Amino acid sequence: MLPVRAIVLAAGQGKRMKSSRPKVLHEVMGRAILSRVMDAVGALGLEHLHIVVGHSSEVVNEFVDKNPPICPFSTHLQSPQLGTGHAVMQVVPALENFTGTLLVTVGDAPVLQSDTLAKLLATHRETKAVVTALSTVVPDAKNYGRMVRDQDGKVRGIVEDKDCSPGEKLITEVNTGIYCIEWPAAAAGLSSLSCDNRQKEYYLTDLVAWAYHHKHVTETVVLTDFREVCGINSRVELAEATVHLRDITATKLALESGVTIIDPRSTWIAPEVTIGEETVVLPGCYLIGNIEIGAGCHIGPYTVMKGRVKVGNGSSVVNSHMNDSTIGENCKVGPFAHMREGNSVGDNSKVGNFVELKKAQVGNKSNVSHLSYIGDATLGNNVNIGAGTITANYDHLTKKKARTVINDGASTGSNSVLVAPVELGVEAVVAAGSVVNKAVPDGALAVARAKQSNLEGWSEKRKRIT
Ligand code: UD1
Ligand code: CA
Repeated sequence: MLPVRAIVLAAGQGKRMKSSRPKVLHEVMGRAILSRVMDAVGALGLEHLHIVVGHSSEVVNEFVDKNPPICPFSTHLQSPQLGTGHAVMQVVPALENFTGTLLVTVGDAPVLQSDTLAKLLATHRETKAVVTALSTVVPDAKNYGRMVRDQDGKVRGIVEDKDCSPGEKLITEVNTGIYCIEWPAAAAGLSSLSCDNRQKEYYLTDLVAWAYHHKHVTETVVLTDFREVCGINSRVELAEATVHLRDITATKLALESGVTIIDPRSTWIAPEVTIGEETVVLPGCYLIGNIEIGAGCHIGPYTVMKGRVKVGNGSSVVNSHMNDSTIGENCKVGPFAHMREGNSVGDNSKVGNFVELKKAQVGNKSNVSHLSYIGDATLGNNVNIGAGTITANYDHLTKKKARTVINDGASTGSNSVLVAPVELGVEAVVAAGSVVNKAVPDGALAVARAKQSNLEGWSEKRKRIT
């Protein structure tokens, strides 16, 4: 089998985004457009990925270095940017010893699926084509290049919108900007491109006409759902692509993973998220990141998860926020819990309403049920935190944070303040309303509050004064 390399074109400015950020770095469901394209091509198992950069190349290069694709890659500077054909020309020196297939794709199609690319590649190989273009039929051909076919139905060229005759404007089959190109067979065609057109650009699309006229095999694969390959040129299209990615992901979760999504239109789940069988996702959830949810869970309504989140089997997370946090099996979170970054909770534990956790490690069968702030703390197993317990972890004079350790079986009464650094021993108890700033030994009761005194007959006395 011949090797495959991909070329992602990401040098364009994207003027219509009205943004100082390069177009390909805008995000769709928490991941840059460019990353989504790199994911789709990278999944094919490439020998190498060439990324053409130009506009804001420093920013794009830095991004790619920090967020590299899964295969070997290099970036290639295109300056000035004289069109998609010119962009591919910048990669030619790096292809000197390459014989195989080049999968070329625009960098602004974030919903592109690797299955589609695999089909394109398979057709290209089966037909032994020199150029195979992926096309699709759209309701509104607006700025796309039109596929112009001859009497036998063979594509004889692609005509850009600005260069279309009135008749060509009516064609609804358009170019997706995604091709398989045989190398070095198509090298002569690439170097023959001219910029004799309305935009004075070197169009990669003209390679199709070149191949047709030189009697090379040219093929097209027509994609059924045009929404998968819509290029992002404005923020309106960015929103449309996000909606489509949401729909594709929800369908896959329902059909392939056995997940019930009650209202897919109000549920935003990124394609990276994995969810186990029989889990129900209720309306209003926003799950964006490297999230792993187990089987038989109950998520939502109105739950937000971001970053690296893991939820064990049988757990529920109701109307809550979880950021970079892990919970074990059969846990209950929410409603209205806020698990900020760096928390890990064991199995059969509870994080109840109006509870905020930050960098907290909580063991098994432990409950933080109501109105608490637990930050920079380690809680063992079978710990019970009373309503309104606060870990005072921050010293505003030294600006330092300190840890609270609560050992197995310990409990705190309502409205306790634990001034860190402090440790509660095994089965230690803190009386309600205490401010604890000294270690409590194993099994001890800490009472740290003023003694109650009752003034007899006080109400009657007050009535006489006023
Ligand atoms: C291009 C196609 C058009 C197709 C459409 C699909 C050409 C001439 N036209 O048009 O037929 O219907 O995509 O979305 O190819 N880029 C560079 N360097 C450049 C110019 C562009 O790297 O000099 C990159 C851009 O960053 C972008 C991609 O190529 O990722 C497409 O460029 P864009 O300007 O969006 O082309 P379209 O006008 O949409
Ligand atoms: Ca485009």
